[in-house]
Amino acid sequence: MELADARIRIDYANTLGFIDTSAMESAHQRIINAQQLLASRSGPGADFLGWVDLPSQARTDLSPILEAAARIRAQADVLIVVGIGGSYLGARAVIEALRPPFAAEGPAVIYAGHHIDGAYLRSLMDSCGDHRVCINVISKSGTTTEPALAFRVLRQWMEQRYGREEAARRTYATTDAQRGALRRVADEEGYTTFVIPDDVGGRFSVITPVGLLPIAAAGIDIGAFLDGAIAMRGIAAGTNPDSNPVLRYAMLRDALYRQGKHIEVLASFHPELTVVSEWWKQLFGESEGKDGKGIFPAAVTNTTDLHSMGQYIQDGERRLFETFLFAERSADDIVVPEVAGDTDGLNYLAGSGFAEVNANALRGTALAHLDGGVPNATILLPGINAASIGALLYFFESTVALCGYALGVNPFDQPGVEAYKSNMFALLGKPGNEARRSELLAQISRDGNAVAG
Ligand code: PA5
Repeated sequence: MELADARIRIDYANTLGFIDTSAMESAHQRIINAQQLLASRSGPGADFLGWVDLPSQARTDLSPILEAAARIRAQADVLIVVGIGGSYLGARAVIEALRPPFAAEGPAVIYAGHHIDGAYLRSLMDSCGDHRVCINVISKSGTTTEPALAFRVLRQWMEQRYGREEAARRTYATTDAQRGALRRVADEEGYTTFVIPDDVGGRFSVITPVGLLPIAAAGIDIGAFLDGAIAMRGIAAGTNPDSNPVLRYAMLRDALYRQGKHIEVLASFHPELTVVSEWWKQLFGESEGKDGKGIFPAAVTNTTDLHSMGQYIQDGERRLFETFLFAERSADDIVVPEVAGDTDGLNYLAGSGFAEVNANALRGTALAHLDGGVPNATILLPGINAASIGALLYFFESTVALCGYALGVNPFDQPGVEAYKSNMFALLGKPGNEARRSELLAQISRDGNAVAG
């Protein structure tokens, strides 16, 4: 990898009119304090800092993952990745960013267990036809309802297709070393297993086998991906925001939030980064949104969404700030051809690359949104490749840790996600939830809640 691939820059000129010098200095101080808290491992959630050193730790021995990935590539035309939240978004983000969108080599990677829609699962199984299939089921707890339910169905389907022993050879489980129902099933059936370390939370787990196995099975160079993250780990330790984009981005977010900009829109100009934005939403939403605080993370993909959400961003409520994500180099660019007679009126672009047109769309958008009262900064990626994506994901992880600490929350827990689960279990009649079930049924009949009823 060239170090240049990890060199992420931030252009923040379009925020300066919204943050005066003293607000920027205060933000700087809070973020430096947060950086010290993280480095000394003395902040809240210190038991979940395993992610910090994962890039270099994972790099020391990739062979078990590479061997399993090679086996999957030999065994399968289709790899079904079963998981939800942190147990699938990272892999999907990287695979969709780096695989050619059409005609990729190696197994198709498809996803299950990230919602509860039976028609989707039925269609997914039907679509496999006679193709050879492998499954990578991923759950740290091993008990999450959505992937567990999907896997129950898929496991039966695989056993009918291949017989129990061959189905087991085609099933790879990534879960806790000891606990959980998935660990029990995996041990009983003899699946190949990988472990999610205890000190790494789901949304920070892309650099564990959770992400690395499906990413490698998709044919992506996980060594280069990790090298990008390792380089960013070094950059993130710096104390000068002019050379450390993590500090700069964290300062801008902190300062803008305190100016009442409570919504951040991540706006990428590359369709292959759409799931990176989804992963980013989980990372920032789950890490910051607690104790009545936190920036609401929203995302758009441009220029597609300039024709829909662009209206709101330009002209709606002024509580937004925007972070553009733009890759400076685009491989395989297309040059606009000259057309005789210029019937479509586009000859003024003849000879320009699409990348140049896209860059001007970014410039035009940034200035228009600034005029509309939306401060905006641009994260500039040196290109979209394994190393730059590794660097980008680690950049976001480091930023959210600092912003969470500066906000005064624990960025590594997610107590709020339990509320829907306990209601759902009670309504489904899961044993042990009888009292809550009675309360909810009484509430439904009292309020006449048609959906819940
Ligand atoms: O960030 C998180 O902790 C969550 O998104 C989890 O990853 C998600 O709920 C899946 O959990 P599990 O891996 O235990 O099935």
